[in-house]
Formats: sequence, structure tokens, C-alpha cells
Amino acid sequence: MLKLGILGLGEGRSTMSAALNSAKYELKMVCDMNIEVCKQRAEEFNFHQYTTSYQKMLDDPKIDVIAIYTPDHLHAEHVKQALLHNKHVICTKPFIDDLAQAQELLDLVEQTCKKVFVGQSSRFFEPAKRQRKDYEEGLLGDLITIESHYHADHRWFLEKPWALEQAFKWLYGGLSHPVDFIRWYMPNVEEVMGYGMISNNGKVAGLKNEDTMHFIFKATDGRIARVSGAYTGYTQPTQRDSGMSVILRCAEGASQADYHELRYAVTDKTGEEKIIYWGDKTLKYYFRFGGQSHHAGEYQNYLEYFADCLESGETAFPDIKEGIGTVALLQAMDRSLKTGQPVKVADILDEYQLSPEKLSA
Ligand SMILES: NC(=O)c1ccc[n+]([C@@H]2O[C@H](COP(=O)([O-])OP(=O)(O)OC[C@H]3O[C@@H](n4cnc5c(N)ncnc54)[C@H](O)[C@@H]3O)[C@@H](O)[C@H]2O)c1
Repeated sequence: MLKLGILGLGEGRSTMSAALNSAKYELKMVCDMNIEVCKQRAEEFNFHQYTTSYQKMLDDPKIDVIAIYTPDHLHAEHVKQALLHNKHVICTKPFIDDLAQAQELLDLVEQTCKKVFVGQSSRFFEPAKRQRKDYEEGLLGDLITIESHYHADHRWFLEKPWALEQAFKWLYGGLSHPVDFIRWYMPNVEEVMGYGMISNNGKVAGLKNEDTMHFIFKATDGRIARVSGAYTGYTQPTQRDSGMSVILRCAEGASQADYHELRYAVTDKTGEEKIIYWGDKTLKYYFRFGGQSHHAGEYQNYLEYFADCLESGETAFPDIKEGIGTVALLQAMDRSLKTGQPVKVADILDEYQLSPEKLSA
């Protein structure tokens, strides 16, 4: 059984639930700098080994894995500290929000032989798993193009103290999900262009960076994809639309995975058309706390996948290289928003002396 420590107990709540329900982990300690949050989680889960000092968790030699759920701009430093203390790392998305420390983290992984896994939760939802399986089994044929979006009325998020800081960008916090999907199916995106804006709702709230964005991508083999995010406006009824969605359009079929609705639609190469929903048991597994935030089932799926990979010696994906590749693409998207021009991912990587070869699996 792996001994786990969790840093940051907002979204880290889902990981607490996942670990406490998993036969593969023993939760050893949780940490949040806010003592009130620690106490709230202690009461919620009847789990009292908490600390407000990350150093204390790092110094515990019994802890094998640290899972990180602090604000985006702190991930790089928190991952670095965990590696320096010889821990395996699970880091929530976005892995980091700037490539400045990417090489240092890659070097640390090599020196310590510890594993870093990006907790890209949306890959671990039921419709995403099913869509991937169908695609890998060849039910749809070769991918022509992919579209993904994450649109949500996340105005509630703006009450978090870090959401109105200059460092916070929906580009990283929100679009990291659909951009990861694009790269999962089309890893070799080489160029991107897009437009973004701050909506009036975002301006009134005091948001510093874009909350509404549309992008198109071009891959090295000429294929194209598109992605969008909108975070401060209303959404349609879920029967008609989906907050997060991935559409694969392939040579012999097409499929769409809709996330929070747990809905999957597919036309496969036999011509059969299906729409699949999952029942109550699955819904309860994913949405343990009521409502649709903190969907702990995804976290349980990825925690256990990481444990299995550690045991078998296989790499758990997205690993650090794939995570950094996605951050490079996000950074190229950010540059395109600022310049109004198409941006090549290789140019961004060059600026940090990183190369696509260094990041290939
Ligand atoms: N689906 C997903 O995978 C998903 C969903 C939501 C959030 N997230 C990610 O989780 C991270 C946290 O988001 P959140 O919504 O939980 O934010 P949050 O503000 O609710 O929680 C962050 C917590 O980290 C604590 N913290 C900050 N700095 C700390 C430090 N130095 N040491 C110890 N504790 C510290 C804060 O006190 C706070 O309780 C973000 O990176 C976000 O992108 C992922």
C-alpha cells in the first residue's frame, strides 16, 4: 500500500475521499496552510492527521507519494520540493503555468528516479475512458479532426482569493482540460492561433486575464483541431449541451464524450449509432459530495492507475514530459492571444532550451 500525503485541501478533498476509499493507498497526512480548511476536512472525513506545514509532510519519511492541489502558480515549486524530498508526485492540472522551471523539474526526475504524474482528471471520467477505448480498438478508423471545449459558469470560482490575482489565467486553469484532450489524440500540434477577451461579467468581477477564448491548432501532419473556453457566462441546459465535450471525427465513424453529464454518443464503422448514459451507481461513484464539483471518482481512477503503474514499472500518462508539452502549447496559445498572430510551439520550447525530442515519451 502506498502512503499518501495531500497538499491543498480545496480540490484535495476529492483526493482525500479517493484515497480513503482505495485499497491501494493509505492516507498518512494532509496539509493546508489554512487551519480552518484542515479542521473542516478533518471533521468531514474523520481524518485528523493534518498539518499547516508542507515541510512537515515533506520530512515524513513514511510518505511515498505527495498529491498537490495548491493554486496553479505554486505547482512548480511544490513539485520541486516533493522531488527534492524523494517523493513520487501527483500534480493536478495545469501541471505548471510557465515553462521557466520545466528543465529543472525534468532534471530532478532524472536525478531522483521518482515519478511525476499529472492528475488530468477529465481523462478518467467514464465517457472519456469509453471514447478512448472505442478509438483505440479501431471502431472509428483514423482521426480526421478533433474539437473540444470547456464552457462553464464559473463565476463562483472568482471568490477564491487567487482567482483575481494577475497570475491566475483561465487559459491554464480551464483550457488545460480540453487542450489535454486534443494532445491525447493529436500529440504533435505545432502551431496555434486564437482570440480571447474578458467578458463584461469578468471585468465587473475584477478578473485580470481572458475568460472567453477560441483557438485553432495545426499538427505536423497537417491535421487541424479546435478548442474553446468560456467561464463567466451562462450555460445551456445539460440535455442540450455539455460543459466539457470532446468530438472525434474519424474516417469511419465519429464520437462525442460529454463529461459532467456522463453521456457518450458514437457512430461506429458498422453504421450503428448509440447514445450511452451511465446509471445511478456510476453517478454516485463520481459525484460523491452532491452537485457537480469535486467529482472524486475521477481522482480515485487516476490515483489507482498511478499506483498500478508504480507497481508494474510502467509510465503513468500524462507524465512530466507530456505535461510539459501541454504547458508549452498553452503558453503558445497565450502568446497568440497577446500578439494576434499564429505561434509555433517549437519557438516557445526554444526559448526555454527545451526541444520536442526531449519531451517525447
Ligand atoms: N478537475 C480537476 O482536476 C480540478 C478541479 C478543480 C481544481 N483543480 C486544481 O486544483 C488546484 C487548487 O484549486 P482549488 O479549486 O482547490 O483552489 P482552492 O483555493 O479552493 O484550494 C487551494 C488550497 O491550497 C491551500 N494552499 C495555498 N498555498 C498553500 C501552501 N503554500 N501550503 C499549503 N496549502 C496551501 C489554500 O489554503 C487552499 O485551501 C488548482 O491548481 C486547480 O486548477 C483541479
